[in-house]
Amino acid sequence: MNTNNLHQFIENMPKAELHLHIEGSFEPELMFKIADRNKIKIKYNSVEELKAAYQFNNLQEFLDIYYAGANVLQTEEDYYDLTMAYFYKINEQNVIHTEIMFDPQTHTDRGIEFLTVINGIKSAQDKAKEEFGITSKLIMSFLRHLDEDSAFKTLEQSLPFKNLIAAVGLDSSELGNPPSKFKNVFSQSIKLGFKTVAHAGEEGPAEYVWDALNNLSISRIDHGNKSLDDERLVNHLAEEKMPLTVCPLSNIKLCNVDKIENHPIKAMLNKGLVATVNSDDPAYFGGYMNENYLAVTEALNLTKEDVYQLTLNSFNASFLNEDEKSTLITKLDNYFESSK
Ligand code: HPA
Ligand code: ZN
Repeated sequence: MNTNNLHQFIENMPKAELHLHIEGSFEPELMFKIADRNKIKIKYNSVEELKAAYQFNNLQEFLDIYYAGANVLQTEEDYYDLTMAYFYKINEQNVIHTEIMFDPQTHTDRGIEFLTVINGIKSAQDKAKEEFGITSKLIMSFLRHLDEDSAFKTLEQSLPFKNLIAAVGLDSSELGNPPSKFKNVFSQSIKLGFKTVAHAGEEGPAEYVWDALNNLSISRIDHGNKSLDDERLVNHLAEEKMPLTVCPLSNIKLCNVDKIENHPIKAMLNKGLVATVNSDDPAYFGGYMNENYLAVTEALNLTKEDVYQLTLNSFNASFLNEDEKSTLITKLDNYFESSK
């Protein structure tokens, strides 16, 4: 398949996204519009000035700007507009299923009600299903730089909306905040019926991946890149078919991989790992799903079969039930067959 055809194959392919922070899909133009509406002053004078600040040496430098951006969100309409903008974007990119993370504490710690956040997001999910046929799940992420008590409080606030949330997750500053810090709240979440995921091995070491596996009973690892430093862990992940939600452009922007030609996603597939492609924080990292697929495909000479495998992995690793998975995988398979 020539490059142009492979590009087209990727762009039109039905895809699933499993690692997306809705606050990280906040495009500067919308941020200024909402700030204006809420009469909040942004530290930057223009969209261009704000975009120019998107240069990060590590995760923390990004998080500081990401939390500042999220601070302009206040009303249910804001959360609806934010989420709907993401759905419009992914609909253009043929994403047919997405599992959206949100960080309640980023909002409730500023006095925004949990209800305001989740109602806005849920209305957009319903609209996207109705208008585009896109299915979606919600993952409530605990901020790991805060303490476990705060996570417990968030878990309690979420209970009236339990049926709207598929899983709990763990994000924010990884180094110094190992998964075991949240062992009790994850255990309680599981008892309440939530599935669990966690960011691990993004900046933190392979031991944090072991920690998440052993202490948080996770169904997927978010990122997981550092697993490759530990051969025993790689073998374990492959045997367990533990999915990794890999985010190529994020890894470049946060300097976890020096250049895209050195991205490990192909090596992950070669080692039998269940790798998937995701955008993480697309408004900050320079691309949504298609841009992430295209970047690694071009740089690592991925084949159409590699691309198919990555996408099949995403549908299989999703929190859809078996019937729903099978319907979407049939769509993918038909697409793949008809492209031959
Ligand atoms: N890592 C950790 N926390 C995050 C990220 C990330 O890439 N994006 C938003 N919160
Ligand atoms: Zn992430």
